[in-house]
Amino acid sequence: MEFIAKTGDLEKLTSACLVVAVGEKGQLSAAATAIDKLAGGLISRVLKAGDIKGKYGQSLMLHGLTGIKAERVLLVGTQQCDKAIKQADFIKVARATAAAIKQAGCKDATLALLGQAVDGADDYWKARQLLQATGESNYQFNQLKSEKGPKTLPLRKVTVLTENRSQTGQAKRAAEHAQAIVSGIHTARDLGNLPGNICTPSYLATRAKNLAKKNPKLSCKVLDEKQMKALGMHSLLSVSAGSAEGAKLITMEYKGGKKGDRPIVLLGKGITFDSGGISLKPGAGMDEMKFDMCGAASVMGAMTTLCEMGLPINVVGMIASAENMPGPSATKPGDVITSMSGKTIEVLNTDAEGRLVLCDALTYAERFKPAAVVDIATLTGACIVALGHHISGLISNNDALADKLTAAGISAADQAWRLPMNDDYQKQLDSNFADIANIGGPGAGTITAGCFLARFAEKFDWAHLDIAGTAWHSGAKKGASGRPVALLSQFLLDSAA
Ligand code: BES
Ligand code: MN
Ligand code: ZN
Repeated sequence: MEFIAKTGDLEKLTSACLVVAVGEKGQLSAAATAIDKLAGGLISRVLKAGDIKGKYGQSLMLHGLTGIKAERVLLVGTQQCDKAIKQADFIKVARATAAAIKQAGCKDATLALLGQAVDGADDYWKARQLLQATGESNYQFNQLKSEKGPKTLPLRKVTVLTENRSQTGQAKRAAEHAQAIVSGIHTARDLGNLPGNICTPSYLATRAKNLAKKNPKLSCKVLDEKQMKALGMHSLLSVSAGSAEGAKLITMEYKGGKKGDRPIVLLGKGITFDSGGISLKPGAGMDEMKFDMCGAASVMGAMTTLCEMGLPINVVGMIASAENMPGPSATKPGDVITSMSGKTIEVLNTDAEGRLVLCDALTYAERFKPAAVVDIATLTGACIVALGHHISGLISNNDALADKLTAAGISAADQAWRLPMNDDYQKQLDSNFADIANIGGPGAGTITAGCFLARFAEKFDWAHLDIAGTAWHSGAKKGASGRPVALLSQFLLDSAA
């Protein structure tokens, strides 16, 4: 799909679908007024008839308007198109627009919506939200169906209509960024949706290598179990011990910045299936534990976006990947293992495996002398209890880094919320037999998981995103969401600015 920003004459514009805003009290945006005039007052009559009330999220598709060349006109409600609206409401408008375009099966669309004022947002932000929403909704996952149906969705081209030069400049940049971010999001969703029998640790390694082959600024290195053993990564290896699939530690080095520039490290949890191991999970809904590699998928997504944007920074994408299975050689509750850092860990629950793979990867990350390390993990069910499915959890040992990630999440409409962490919580991880236990009791499960990771992240600025509630949808719309690729991409964009 192609994203474009350009100025144009509404009258002469050819498009399968021209989108304009209408308000709650029958107000018409400037673009809607112009079309209304050309079409002999049709929009005014439709509003008067009450077919669309102009509320956020509402839309109405009109056909066969006279006086214009566009095949359809989509009216979308912005409630008050003569006043500034909230960013969250504009996103609702963008999503409703995207859904209506998809529903109608349009081949292309032109969005004349930049005239809508939005609190604290410029034309760049508005254009990016519009394009990102349209791009994101234009997704299907049918590669595993035998009757494939149409291979691709009809939407080919989305244009943001601009009114002047400065707007076009901002919208063009937004179009480039949105394009890269959408392809990162789709990459993450595809990987997340693939089942555990296809998307194994070695599959992720191959995908990372292929990404590096396509991009001269990116190189990829994969450590296998033998190499990890030599490095003393017994914590990571304890997770794959019961599985026939070998664990992999994947590193993708992106060199866009100067040689000495310290890299940002993005580290993803890549458990390609989490059965719980010997601490076996209950059966209901266990299939969804194929999504336990969505942190890794978001790193692949963010690296894809980064390569497409070609940002002038250094970034290392890391993926700690294993399959967590029971078996004759699986790790047992009570086992004590020695991590790469030298710290010993009592594995009280083999289902708390994410932190076990991540802690060795964090120690490994020290060698990159990182400016910051951000890990992304479907780490705790407790995070869903705390924050539900709307907002990701955030834990950090550095206020400035936490603030940057929070801000990136807000501006990318992919929010994260910081949880506290202090020594009181750390005590919950005390073990009678080792330096640290891998679970911290019933209370504050997301925080104690963060506390565990923090012990392996003492040498750098570090933040942890718990995406257990946000990485995928359950129920009828079951599938990976692609979060938090938008947040991570925004964080990288902000770091490059
Ligand atoms: N991958 C799960 C966390 C998870 C559960 C994410 C459900 C999304 C939905 C993780 O490995 C896990 O099993 N965590 C345990 C930790 C507990 C044993 C301390 C959990 O949350 O129950
Ligand atoms: Mn688990
Ligand atoms: Zn897990």
